[in-house]
Amino acid sequence: MAASRVSSVFRTGLFVDKVAIVTGGGTGIGRAIVQELLHLGCKVVIASRNEERLHKSENCLRQEIPKNSPAEIKSIQCNIRKEEEVKNLMSSTISAFGKIDYLVNNGGGQFASPASAIRTKGWNAVVDTNLTGTFLCCREVYNAWMEEHGGSIVNIVVDLWNGFPGMAHTSAARAGIVNLSKSLSLEWAHNGVRINNVAPGTVYSETAAANYPNPELFNQVGPTVPAKRLGKLEEISAAVCFLLSPAASYITGDTIKVDGGSSLYGHAMWEIPDHDKYPVYNWDEDEQVAKEQCNKMTKSKL
Ligand code: ADE
Repeated sequence: MAASRVSSVFRTGLFVDKVAIVTGGGTGIGRAIVQELLHLGCKVVIASRNEERLHKSENCLRQEIPKNSPAEIKSIQCNIRKEEEVKNLMSSTISAFGKIDYLVNNGGGQFASPASAIRTKGWNAVVDTNLTGTFLCCREVYNAWMEEHGGSIVNIVVDLWNGFPGMAHTSAARAGIVNLSKSLSLEWAHNGVRINNVAPGTVYSETAAANYPNPELFNQVGPTVPAKRLGKLEEISAAVCFLLSPAASYITGDTIKVDGGSSLYGHAMWEIPDHDKYPVYNWDEDEQVAKEQCNKMTKSKL
């Protein structure tokens, strides 16, 4: 197989004869995952809501596949919030490629906002896309294929272990995915289905930058990470390929953090303004009040 534009630490041909669906596979982290899967010989379906952008990505990615490679790419328009479209994604993939070995739930969306300003509509949209959309894709890939044949699922979440101020909706939804994966890994173990998560730290991509009002933030984050740099898209896709692959055949219900150690280190992304508003319990005052009440009760009994 001739070398394609991307490289991989995994062996050439690792995913030949395998079929993967990657939601949100046209841009950012999703695109990097698709590039590596294709490089390793996989047949990949990319699914996203925006048909025009999806076709553009499909055509670009197809051009990267070397002529003699067994890898193939196909795009299927799918809004992961819509049950019927998710069902269609699974049945169309099986019609096109005969099976589904892998599902990567990468499609999602959010907007930066302090929690107090998130409207109910915005909250519901983010939870519907990230949590419910991921659930629908898992349920439908299981019902359409994996219940009978097994498979491997990887969900992309975020580094949410210390909360995610400024993105409360998406981190709540993705914390839900982390727990969902644990439930599904137990419910579906006897069908040969593994399900895991990858939690990227701060990784620069144009798609990610578009989510932030001030993309300069990315430059400020690097020095605060123990690794002293941002993550690379290829470092996320390598973790995904590992979890999909037989190298991870004894791993399920788990999450790999790919964050350069930042989840173990400070929380410099969110500055808390100076204030003196934090509630504190006044034990001395309380003791005095208690004594007075006690005295009153004693006197009234006498
Ligand atoms: N990416 C962002 N939102 C999406 C959605 N609703 N469906 C599929 N991909 C998406």
